[in-house]
Amino acid sequence: MKKMSTVVSMRRLLAFAAISGAMIAPGFATSEPTLENSPIRLSSNENAFGYTPKAKAAMIKYLDGGSYYNRNDVENLVEMCAKKEGVPNDYILTTAGSGPLLMMTALAFAEPGVNVVTTEMGYTQLIRKFAERGGDLKFAKLSDDMGYDFDSLKAEIDENTKIVYICNPNNPTGVMADANELKKFILSVPEDILVFVDEAYLELADASFALNTCASLVKVRKNLIVTRTFSKGYGLAGFRIGYGIANPEVLAKIYPFFMGGPSYLAAIAAVEALKDTEHLSTNVKKYQTVRTYLTTTFDQLGVAYAKPQGAFVYFNSGIDQQVLRDTMAANGILISGSRESGVPIGKYDEWARVSIGTMDQMKGFISILSNMLAKS
Ligand SMILES: Cc1ncc(COP(=O)(O)O)c(C=O)c1O
Repeated sequence: MKKMSTVVSMRRLLAFAAISGAMIAPGFATSEPTLENSPIRLSSNENAFGYTPKAKAAMIKYLDGGSYYNRNDVENLVEMCAKKEGVPNDYILTTAGSGPLLMMTALAFAEPGVNVVTTEMGYTQLIRKFAERGGDLKFAKLSDDMGYDFDSLKAEIDENTKIVYICNPNNPTGVMADANELKKFILSVPEDILVFVDEAYLELADASFALNTCASLVKVRKNLIVTRTFSKGYGLAGFRIGYGIANPEVLAKIYPFFMGGPSYLAAIAAVEALKDTEHLSTNVKKYQTVRTYLTTTFDQLGVAYAKPQGAFVYFNSGIDQQVLRDTMAANGILISGSRESGVPIGKYDEWARVSIGTMDQMKGFISILSNMLAKS
C-alpha cells in the first residue's frame, strides 16, 4: 500500500468547502428530509441500487396482513435459508437484521473475567456490547495489508476466551480472508470457545460465495455461528432482517436474549430476495464495477486503500479524516471516519471509509476529494 503524508490545514479545507457549493445536493438544507432531498449517504454501507421489485410487489400484496402476527412467512423463510445453507431448519435463527445476533451472543457470554478475541480494526457491534457487560476485549494485530493474521489471533486466545469474532470481509477494512486459512484457523480454536463469523458482506466479494462461506463448517465444528444479513447485497436494510446459522445447541445458548424476530413483511421480502438470484447478481456486478472505478481512481490520485471486497472502501487520503468528513458533509455527502478499535488513538487519523454508491454519487465524491487533494 502506498502511504501519503499530506496534511491539510482545517482552515484551507473549510475555505475550499465554501467555494465548492456546486456539489451541494439539491435540497440538502431543507428542513424535511426525504429520500430525494437527504444528503447522499455513503456512510452506512446501504445498498444504493435497490432491492428486488419482486419483494416490493409481494409486500404490497400482503400489506393488509399487518393487523396479524407472523403467519407462516418466517417459517417459509427459515426453510429456504436452511435449504440454501445445507442445514436442517433448526440450525437457522431469523432476527431483525443480523445486529441482534451479534448483541445476543455478547449478552449470553459476557461477564467480568472472560474475554472476546477479535482483530483490531473490526466491526464493533458484538465487542461493544461484550465490554458494556464487563467482559474484556483482546485484539489481534492485522497483517501489513490490513488482512487477517491468524497467528496473532491464535496468540490472543487464553483460558478466559469465550468468543472469537471474525468479520469476513472485514468492516471497515473491506479485506477478505483466504478461505482455506480461515477454515483451518476455525478448526484449530479449542472446541469450548464459540467462533462467530460475520459474513454480512460476503455476497459482494469478487471470490466465490460458496467456496468462502464458513456455513458448512457448522456441521463439523459445533461451537460456531455464521451470520448473514439481507441489509447489504439484498438491499433490505430498512426492513430489518438477517439470520444466524448454528447447531441448535449453540442457538439455545443465545436464544434467552432474543427480543423478537423480523416482521412478517420483512420475511416476505427476504423470501423474494432469495428467489431473485438474477437481481442479486446484477447488484453484485454494480458493486464490483463501482468498486473498481474507485480503486482505479484512487490509484491515479495516489490515495492508498485496503483491498476492498465489501460494500465500501477504506482509504488513506492523507487528509485528517474529520476534516474530510466535514467537508464532504458540507457538500451534501456523508462518509464514515476511521475506525480505531484496538489500535492507538490517532494511528488511522487520515483514513476514512466510503460506501459504494451509484456511479454518479461516487463521481461526486471523487470530484470533492480531488479538489481537496489539489489544494492540499
Ligand atoms: C459487518 C457487519 N455485521 C453486521 C451488521 C449489522 O447489520 P444488520 O443489523 O442490518 O444486519 C453490519 C452493519 O453495518 C455490519 O457492517
